[in-house]
Amino acid sequence: MSEGGRLELRHPGGSTPIWVGAGALGNALEALGASLARRRVFAVTSPPVRALHGAALDAVAATAGAFRILEVADGESAKSVETVVTLWRRLLDEGGKRDSLIVAFGGGSIGDVAGFVAATFLRGVDYLQVPTTLLAQVDASIGGKTAINLPRAKNCVGAFHHPVATIAETTFLETLGPRQIRCGLFEVVKTAAMLDSDLFAMLETELEELLGGGAEVLAPVVEATAAAKIAVVERDPTEGNDRRLLNFGHTLGHALESAAVDVHGHKTLEHGEAVGYGMLFALELARPRGLGMKEAERIRELVVRIGLPPLPGGLDPADLIDRIARDKKAREGSIAWVMPMKIGDGLVVENVTGEEVSSTIDRFLAGA
Ligand code: GLY
Repeated sequence: MSEGGRLELRHPGGSTPIWVGAGALGNALEALGASLARRRVFAVTSPPVRALHGAALDAVAATAGAFRILEVADGESAKSVETVVTLWRRLLDEGGKRDSLIVAFGGGSIGDVAGFVAATFLRGVDYLQVPTTLLAQVDASIGGKTAINLPRAKNCVGAFHHPVATIAETTFLETLGPRQIRCGLFEVVKTAAMLDSDLFAMLETELEELLGGGAEVLAPVVEATAAAKIAVVERDPTEGNDRRLLNFGHTLGHALESAAVDVHGHKTLEHGEAVGYGMLFALELARPRGLGMKEAERIRELVVRIGLPPLPGGLDPADLIDRIARDKKAREGSIAWVMPMKIGDGLVVENVTGEEVSSTIDRFLAGA
């Protein structure tokens, strides 16, 4: 769909329309305009996103009763307690009310922090997700998860709070660099490997075009991935069960993402890349549990074709295991590992022992 289609996510609090495609923003603003005109609208964004897509913010401003832009740092560093406190105070100082509307305008980090502020300010106000990256359009902006980080614990504080709408305007994807496209595609592979074998086969066939980017080629993938995610979130809105499949690659992935830093403390792996490695690792756990060699090879090959940067040297297996134990998905006495049993069909496994994880991490790091 490339001309502004509309999907729907039904959840316990109601339903969220998800506009996808070229023209999604215009279509959504037309539908939401009367509601925006009555409200004070606060757009949370970062300076680089504002510089790239300021015209779209102008379009939102033109429909709003009153409009303010609240800037936060770009990337993962925005997901901090300090940013949340700053945003709460700004909202209060600038007249935020129960019927104000927050617009999360940017990538996944902005969506997570702005969504968390929307979930908590005045015990919850409405917000719109307007994702500008592929990763955020296919995953983070859908399903109502909001979160910030604590030191060594990603997404450790958060809430389920569904946006009143998600607007995946695919023309925003034109400005993405190759690394951002690759990061988004890792999340697409995750969803396809767990839930949708047709989407997986489409990725295998069209990967080179998709890596080249462009709104036209990426739009059908955004729509198909969003549709697969919607189906699983509708079955399991609060991740008690099937929604956990969307954590494929994320258990080791989150640990790697937070552990891989350079001497200045800057991250060297993007979230999507860490998930790419996390998926390869989960294949090692899945093979002895029934994942066939051919299927494992297809998943490995697709991840490798997307392109992973080398893992930084000096990663300490014990440190990774400690980070995994702090993962918010850990329960008392067990960590659920998500793995494919075949392509399009994932499984959550609770009985992976610490020894198995530890020896597999040792082998994995030695072979990476
Ligand atoms: N990002 C995974 C989920 O929304 O459940």
